[in-house]
Amino acid sequence: MIIRPRVQRLILTRILSASLILLALWTTLEVLSIRRALTREASKPPPPFGKQRIFIASLHWTDERILREYWVPAVRQLAQDIGRDNVFVSVYESGSFDDTKGALQELDDQLTGLGIDHKVVLDETTHLDEVSRDRGPGDEGWVQMPATKSYRQNWTEWFELEKDEWVPRRIPYLARLRNQVMEPLYEQQSKGVVYDKILWLNDVVFNTEDVRTLLATRHGDYAAACALDFKQAPKFYDSFATRDAEGYAPLTATWPFFQSAQSRHPLIHGQPVPVASCWNGMVAFDAKPFYRIVDRLVFRGIPDSLARSHVEGSECCLVHADNPLSREKGVWVNPRVRVGYNGTAYGAVNGGAWPSGYAIATGVWRNRILRLWGLLKASDRVVEARLREWRRWDSAAVEPGPFCLIDEMQILLWNGWGHA
Ligand SMILES: *[C@@H]1O[C@H](CO)[C@@H](O)[C@H](O)[C@H]1NC(C)=O
Repeated sequence: MIIRPRVQRLILTRILSASLILLALWTTLEVLSIRRALTREASKPPPPFGKQRIFIASLHWTDERILREYWVPAVRQLAQDIGRDNVFVSVYESGSFDDTKGALQELDDQLTGLGIDHKVVLDETTHLDEVSRDRGPGDEGWVQMPATKSYRQNWTEWFELEKDEWVPRRIPYLARLRNQVMEPLYEQQSKGVVYDKILWLNDVVFNTEDVRTLLATRHGDYAAACALDFKQAPKFYDSFATRDAEGYAPLTATWPFFQSAQSRHPLIHGQPVPVASCWNGMVAFDAKPFYRIVDRLVFRGIPDSLARSHVEGSECCLVHADNPLSREKGVWVNPRVRVGYNGTAYGAVNGGAWPSGYAIATGVWRNRILRLWGLLKASDRVVEARLREWRRWDSAAVEPGPFCLIDEMQILLWNGWGHA
């Protein structure tokens, strides 16, 4: 039997339109089922703080606006809601270009007035002090510029850093400051006061309920639990510290973010998401590893000898790699907690159905296509090769957080930080 071309075309068109209808139907059902699961999870109210003791920690640089508008009132409210017998607020700031010190001084005064234990350190050391310091022999946290490069001085002018010039690395600097923020934890311990959870806050918009939801992730059973953070919603912000259950950086900046099915499936159902690492503007740690007598958990950067080969890793990722409790209790993202770097971003991902039906439909398909594409294309193994090379030259070289590593060199500048 011969099918005439006209009939052939007709059959083909029918098959095509039937497929499209099926695809649309499938997607619609998928969106409805995801929405239902997300709504069910979102309707569960978080439990009260209870008797747990919470140590709040944060680090600041030039963020006066959000502090005055959102953060300072939110932290004051949070500390009151936790209750003054159960909370400590530890804040460190240095070298801001605006009146961040003024905003934090107000928090200091308010907490004093409320009788809430706290330590607010407003350090006069600037980035300029850090970069002008001479690197002493054996000083850690420095690299040599791999090439001469220009950086912005202001709107119109540039300044240059010469090849081979010694510059401080950004991550060891941040790690050092974070450890400084943790110091009151040990001062309190020597007075017999021990905390259950460490809550690190970035300069984000959040409220007490967000923190209650975060702390109650898996009924409090976690090594660490993180929010999701947004600067330019709907785009997720913290890709530097976030690694999914298989150690992959987020596949997309938009929902459902993750490559690993182990992480993606719980996210889609509004459940806590197992990950290798996260920070995301707000993260709660089980405090125990920070109290260990041997191998106390601290913040750190990767070794200078590895950073020299143009590799970097966030101190906010490495801390999870180093944390022995990560293996036991897991690191989790709680997708019900979404913070923003300003009011617009916060509003876009809170109050109302998030993500929208449209974002779900496009998100699941974009994720599928990118995963398929990822299977076809050869993966980028630059960082792995550099890590191997580093190990070959130094048999004692160990980096417990290989999944944290990226192909960057981050340095401190007098007016911020940059890539070298
Ligand atoms: C919030 O931040 C985003 C991204 O930086 C910006 O586009 C937006 O205008 C900001 N909104 C406000 C109210 O400042």
